[in-house]
Amino acid sequence: MIDVDKLTQQQAESELKRLAEEIAKADNAYYQNDAPYLTDAEYDDLKHYNAAIEEKFPQLVRKDSPSLRVGAKVQSKFNKIEHRFPMLSLGDVFSIEEVADFVTSVKRFLNTADDIDFMAEPKIDGLSFSARYENGKFVSGATRGDGIVGEDITANLRTIPQLPLQLPSGVPEILEIRGEVYMAKRDFLALNERTLQQGKKPFANPRNAAAGSLRQLDPRITAERKLSLWAYTWGEVSAPQWRTQGEFFQKLQEWGFPVNPLNKMCHSLRDMEENFAQMAVNRAGLPYDIDGIVYKVNSIALQERLGFLTRTPRWAIAHKFPAQQALTRINDIRIQVGRTGALTPVADLEPVNVGGVIVSHATLHNEDEIRRKDFRIGDMVVIQRAGDVIPQVVEVKKEYRSATSEPFVFPTKCPECGAHAMREEGTAAWYCTGGLTCPAQAKEHLRHFVSKEAFDIAGLGITVIEEFFDDGTIKNPVDIFTLEERNGSMEERDLFSVADDKGLHIEKRYGWGKVLLNRLFRAIDERRIISLPRFIFALGIPRVGAATAQMLAKHYGSFDALQNDMINKETAKLVAIDGIGAVMAQDMVEFFGEEHNQKVIADLRQYVTVEDYVDDAINNSPLSGKIIVFTGTLEQMTRAEAKALAQKLGAKVAGSVSSHTDLVVVGADAGSKAKKAAELGIKILAETEFLQMIEQK
Ligand code: IVH
Repeated sequence: MIDVDKLTQQQAESELKRLAEEIAKADNAYYQNDAPYLTDAEYDDLKHYNAAIEEKFPQLVRKDSPSLRVGAKVQSKFNKIEHRFPMLSLGDVFSIEEVADFVTSVKRFLNTADDIDFMAEPKIDGLSFSARYENGKFVSGATRGDGIVGEDITANLRTIPQLPLQLPSGVPEILEIRGEVYMAKRDFLALNERTLQQGKKPFANPRNAAAGSLRQLDPRITAERKLSLWAYTWGEVSAPQWRTQGEFFQKLQEWGFPVNPLNKMCHSLRDMEENFAQMAVNRAGLPYDIDGIVYKVNSIALQERLGFLTRTPRWAIAHKFPAQQALTRINDIRIQVGRTGALTPVADLEPVNVGGVIVSHATLHNEDEIRRKDFRIGDMVVIQRAGDVIPQVVEVKKEYRSATSEPFVFPTKCPECGAHAMREEGTAAWYCTGGLTCPAQAKEHLRHFVSKEAFDIAGLGITVIEEFFDDGTIKNPVDIFTLEERNGSMEERDLFSVADDKGLHIEKRYGWGKVLLNRLFRAIDERRIISLPRFIFALGIPRVGAATAQMLAKHYGSFDALQNDMINKETAKLVAIDGIGAVMAQDMVEFFGEEHNQKVIADLRQYVTVEDYVDDAINNSPLSGKIIVFTGTLEQMTRAEAKALAQKLGAKVAGSVSSHTDLVVVGADAGSKAKKAAELGIKILAETEFLQMIEQK
């Protein structure tokens, strides 16, 4: 930028041309594509520079000057709606002195020395809308567009629950209510989380997310996004029923529109200053973004006398908060391991003050985001804070990049446990495969391990397991089963001897009664035999929930069968199971392939017996729980087949007849076993009878 005072007329002319183009391009990116590439500060600089040149060379103001435009052109894909009353913009100021100038100019215009009441309203950082009601019925809605013509978003607005569709009787026949659609911070974070999970580009801020959600050709998408709104002004009204902005808010409330409770009447400049300071402090804690305070002359009669400049009212102004952006350096890029094993890249920043808060790290979201924006260690970057939303890295200032810098390479190993990391197909997220042994995931895994559908140990709920984890009593699932052993004797002793011995002595440390602790130990004992579906689920294999565990158990019958297939990488067999896809199969093979997982499983199985799966159908089968002996030569199947069949139906197959035998199946040439069975009065079936019996079920 050239110093305005030093510009020649010719230079000024070419600068204005360049600025008009550049600002139009930035506007387009911001308004049409919801993808700004300039920071707010850079954009403001351009606008101010343009304004300064125009002030010095008023004869050079272009027809397409950015100072004469409000927003952007209407996106062609939406129907257009011409506003009956233009949707105006507001002049911006950045200091209390400028607010004072504004108040003075209002008084001068009205030729009065009296104090004037102003309504101070939080300036919501969203997207303005206009909603038209005819005879109390919502008929159409529009965006601001360029202020004259907006986009028809009737169907989209309809999906926002806060917008009343039918107003009570007594409202003006024609009534246009205007306000701001926004996305609350938590809804924004949740949306971005989902967006990232789908491997898509996250929204830069709640404003862009709101705009992207509202301007959807398919209103069903709008309906899925959580949008909110505040009403704050009006357009065409057949018969206004209010004399002040305050009265208008009262009406709005009566009619069922959301009105910001932080709107505040100010009787003096002092009130305005105090309110601004207060809001600047409260801002971060608000559930939505605001970027300043709007002051409006309270009296409508005075507003009408004051009227308008080209595109802004003389009776209102916006006092903006200082920019929430700053330039700093990425000192390092660390990988954080979340409780579920997700690997998130985080930028360690040279600490910098952003709008009064020191920021020293920011999320870089995921591998794709790093690649897209080409973030590198050592880069100078623009960071941005919006309220209490996690600081974002907006962009890299490539002009400061060192010649020796290199692109960031996403690690393929978990920085916490060294297990290999994998990236899910179709998503942008990397995961640590160290599941059972990764310290970052240990607590979450323990919680999962004792949850209702897993081991479900009475007395070892989430709260207790967290306490035991935090003080080191239980660090991994195996520790649960050595708890009693490690606790030491519960004989009464004095405190000295307790301190001497190596036991955990939970009863002493937690003040648990002996009875309670014994009950816990017995509850743990009860789970030393566990059903196959519970055990599979408890392992916390990525994406394997309780229902999948059930399917796997049914299919494989025993843990060994499952584990063998997994170690042999038999994914084809897995995928053949209805409900198991290729991605899950791959996850499972990888999980079982990890040495540390194998070790934990082996350790666990020293203390825990995993029952073979018994199908419900088997429970009802006539062979369930029966001890069977086969003898003689079978004709319709081999002995091995018969044995497998019986086992599949829940029977135990024994080699010799005893008093415990429930059933003997005899083939041709049966010998001593058949005789013994007869002596003992045990039920005897011929091969065909046996087959009939199991077919019946
Ligand atoms: S009044 C003529 N009140 O700020 C008055 N605007 O820079 C027009 N905004 O387009 C607007 N909160 O999108 C008004 N309480 C508020 C506002 C507000 C946010 C936005 C609105 C407007 C822009 C003007």
